[in-house]
Amino acid sequence: MIIAIDGPAASGKGTLSKRLAAHFGLPHLDTGLLYRGVARAMLDAGLPLEDAAAAARAARTLDLATLDEARLRGAEMGEAASVVAAVPSVREALLDLQRRFAADPRGAVLDGRDIGTVICPDADVKIFVTASAEERARRRHRELAGRGEAVAFETVLDDIRRRDARDGGRSSAPLRAARDARLLDTTALDIEAAFRAAVAIVQDTKAADVPAG
Ligand code: DC
Repeated sequence: MIIAIDGPAASGKGTLSKRLAAHFGLPHLDTGLLYRGVARAMLDAGLPLEDAAAAARAARTLDLATLDEARLRGAEMGEAASVVAAVPSVREALLDLQRRFAADPRGAVLDGRDIGTVICPDADVKIFVTASAEERARRRHRELAGRGEAVAFETVLDDIRRRDARDGGRSSAPLRAARDARLLDTTALDIEAAFRAAVAIVQDTKAADVPAG
């Protein structure tokens, strides 16, 4: 079973995907980390993020073994990842790797922005996770404060809005729900309730697949 999870920044899709993968015993790929890894390579080499040829090269030579570094999860890398992710040749360079991951005989959970639309259009289950920009900013703000990073709420909200605009407005694989995705709005849900709702969507979809009779 392939589960595709998409949604905007700080929608909670990462936590949900991890928990769904553990629940159903499936491997999980956080595809945002791939773009963050490309952004890190560009920043470390002192290259401008808009240099499409260099970014594509960084994507082709990305070392997956280095993607669990804490620095990749920070706000600076998220913003930089959103810039390199708008380069079509970067997306193309990362396509095969993601499709190979999804071809695991056990199945897989992948989360990102274009999993249901581009990477795994035939996924068994597609969930588009959303929450209002204000609620996402509140969660991100709390998370940053918990890590001792004092950032003004308005700054976090501005960052989220800018990222939404860039990820949704680019021409190559923009963020959008696949036509056959189930929408999961987590604005009023805590993580437990969101997880239960996601499990119910997966079970519903599987039940609907069983031939009648
Ligand atoms: O999910 P995230 O915040 O880690 O993603 C960081 C950036 O990477 C995001 O702003 C857009 C880009 N991204 C993408 O374009 N496609 C994906 N499948 C995953 C992430």
